[in-house]
Amino acid sequence: MHTLSKIVGTSFGILLFSVGINVAIAANPMPDPIQTTKPDCSSTNSTPDMAIEGRRAYMRMNCYSCHGMSAQGGAMGPTLVGKANSVSAVKGGDGHGMPSYKNNLCSNDINNLRAYLSLLGTGTEPNFTHWWEKGVPSR
Ligand code: HEC
Repeated sequence: MHTLSKIVGTSFGILLFSVGINVAIAANPMPDPIQTTKPDCSSTNSTPDMAIEGRRAYMRMNCYSCHGMSAQGGAMGPTLVGKANSVSAVKGGDGHGMPSYKNNLCSNDINNLRAYLSLLGTGTEPNFTHWWEKGVPSR
């Protein structure tokens, strides 16, 4: 009996401990990378170089994971060369594998992405990967 109550007591203690940990985790969630880098939705188009900001959004939003680092086609998504005018697919998704980004991108992002996509294949498109670095990266 004595042993049993010890076991029960210990299990109860472990239970309380893990509940405590879960509460602590819930109170201090890991910062959501999308939230912390959310673009300024109040500005429309004041970016110095729209194509560069478009490339920044392309990298930040993980578009490259499907469409490839150079946006010329990747593991899952088609090439985006010549697709600048299809950029509205980014907001709505298209029901064929292209997710909707309407809650994560502002209209200035869409315009910037269009500017970036329109340079693809010209050899002048920005191709930096470190989107989090401030300033205008070299192409
Ligand atoms: C989960 C994978 C995935 C991610 C992430 C993704 N896409 Fe797509 N995207 C697709 C697929 C698959 C299609 C093709 C859908 C189809 O065949 O209709 C597509 C289609 C598109 C199209 C239309 C191309 C055309 O041929 O008309 C554009 C533009 C596009 N994506 C841009 C983007 C941008 C910009 C991002 C990041 C904000 C992005 N995609 C993120 C999978 C993805």
